[in-house]
Amino acid sequence: MKILVTGGAGYIGSHVAKQLLETTTYQITILDNLSTGNIETIDILQKIREFHFVKLDLKEFEKVKELLEDKKFDVIIHFAAYSVVFESMQNPMKYYLNNTVNTTNLIECATKSRVKKFIFSSTAAVYGDVKQNINISENTPTNPINPYGMSKLMSEKIVQDASKVSNNFKYVIFRYFNVAGADMYFSENELSPRVGERHEPETHLIPLVVKTALGKRDILNIYGEDFDTPDGTCIRDYIHVEDLASAHIEAIDYLDENSSDIFNLGYSRGFSVKEIVNNVKEITSINFKVEVVERREGDPAFLVADNSKVLEKMKWRPKFDSLEAICKSAYEWEKSL
Ligand code: UFG
Repeated sequence: MKILVTGGAGYIGSHVAKQLLETTTYQITILDNLSTGNIETIDILQKIREFHFVKLDLKEFEKVKELLEDKKFDVIIHFAAYSVVFESMQNPMKYYLNNTVNTTNLIECATKSRVKKFIFSSTAAVYGDVKQNINISENTPTNPINPYGMSKLMSEKIVQDASKVSNNFKYVIFRYFNVAGADMYFSENELSPRVGERHEPETHLIPLVVKTALGKRDILNIYGEDFDTPDGTCIRDYIHVEDLASAHIEAIDYLDENSSDIFNLGYSRGFSVKEIVNNVKEITSINFKVEVVERREGDPAFLVADNSKVLEKMKWRPKFDSLEAICKSAYEWEKSL
């Protein structure tokens, strides 16, 4: 089976590519423009099993078309996108062009070259600020509050419309909650992640907390402690990147017997910012400086998935639903950089 992974040099794409390469079933091509992903990740993945790497930007429509016509992929797993919420508010066109227009082009090429399965990386940001502190299901109305979430929601609609007119083009759309952690690879009984999160600049909580523990940053800012939650800090559904990745592998087989669908990916439970900070302090035995500052614009108090649909319909079962596994792997990865 021939699979194209776009954005395979990035954080989530590299974990999915790694899991695909660890089996012999699939013939893999990774496409990445290396704007946020990096070439070292590609080199590390090549050591697991060789694959075809194409450095290409999806905006190069003719070249993408040529690649797809030439390779005749069975499956596309599409990650290539920008994903910094704050940046999307300052530069919306960057998000609509890369995330929505380029996805549209990719889908056009995919349907023309008879790709049968399209697995799309979407986000809980499509739900926007769900005011009540209840777990979010796929039926919760979508209402993005920033261009990032909107660029993904528009792409979802385009995937769905393309599929409506082509019976042979099926999709799974995954809406990710807060993805964190790194490769759970052990070398001589020590957790030694080969791939992990490496954003520049970093804005996500867990990598910032482990960087602070390692002395790479002086202080961890907590953005507000006056939210309507038990300890006053925001609650998020942190899902281990290895579990998130394995859902994509499962989706490939799922589409053989089932129709296209949308699934949340989270664990249906949340942790507060303070719980994350305390967990990292505990597992590393490092005490670092933390300061409560003003709220960050646009942060909802509570964002937790209802994951019952994916558990009911797919064979996917999480293996690393543990805050310790998430924080420890993130810490070991950051230490290795
Ligand atoms: N936070 C801090 N200090 C920091 C960084 C973050 O207190 O230095 C807090 C935030 O205010 C928030 C929580 O930690 O309450 C999590 O923040 P992240 O930036 O790690 O993640 P977000 O929940 O803001 O957003 C992430 C992705 C989005 C995605 C969303 C879906 O960045 O793309 O999860 O749940 F849409």
